[in-house]
Amino acid sequence: MSLLALYQEEFAQPNSKIQAKREEIEVDFLCQDAIKILQSIKTGSDRISKIVLSLRNFSRLDEAPIKAVDLHSGIESTLLILQNRLQAGEHQPEIQVIKEYGNLPTITCYPAQLNQVFLHILNNAIDVIREYGINTKQPQIQIRTEAIDPQQIRIAIANTGSFIPVHIQERIFKPFFTTKPVGSGTGLGLFVSYSIIKKHGGNITVNSLLCKETEFTILIPITT
Ligand SMILES: Nc1ncnc2c1ncn2[C@@H]1O[C@H](COP(=O)(O)OP(=O)(O)OP(=O)(O)O)[C@@H](O)[C@H]1O
Ligand SMILES: [Mg+2]
Repeated sequence: MSLLALYQEEFAQPNSKIQAKREEIEVDFLCQDAIKILQSIKTGSDRISKIVLSLRNFSRLDEAPIKAVDLHSGIESTLLILQNRLQAGEHQPEIQVIKEYGNLPTITCYPAQLNQVFLHILNNAIDVIREYGINTKQPQIQIRTEAIDPQQIRIAIANTGSFIPVHIQERIFKPFFTTKPVGSGTGLGLFVSYSIIKKHGGNITVNSLLCKETEFTILIPITT
């Protein structure tokens, strides 16, 4: 204790040079922090405006319900909305999205409704990879688009790590059919998607390979 008292007596005020240095260091720290904070505010606000823009593109609220559109922009805004679910987490790998976009003409359609179809199918693919699927180290979602002839386009969305047995494939487009636990799924996503695609004069089918992948194929006429 006497040593402590002696120290306090001798060094009641820090040496002015030391104090000046310390303040200098704090100012440095503050400057560094301020730059970092400003950068993260910029990143955050950029992200918010991207999400708001993609939500507006996704919902297409400010547009006519029927319109000639590039379907790739609808797929892209849907992927942006799902970005959070696709990225790596503490205990889960990133879901890699592989895009093979063909040369598509603009399609006269209900774009907001087709975006809903993309959302339902992609959400199901992510659900199965993240929660109910066969574990794969490198989960993938593959999106392929092409104009298969002058009359129609095909959009195929496939995911790794899931298999739907044939007797279940026959039921998945029916209303309220779900294999998800009570409270997790309403079983309406694919029924709604089926209805939207039929309304466009198209078709939606599923193809599933044992322990490999599940693929949904959508055909849409070029002029509806
Ligand atoms: N990619 C997939 N891989 C494996 N099973 C799938 C896949 N997509 C759909 N299914 C099966 O089809 C069922 C019906 O899907 P649907 O989207 O209609 O309903 P849901 O996802 O269960 O509920 P929600 O109404 O919330 O979408 C799912 O419960 C699941 O069993
Ligand atoms: Mg679903």
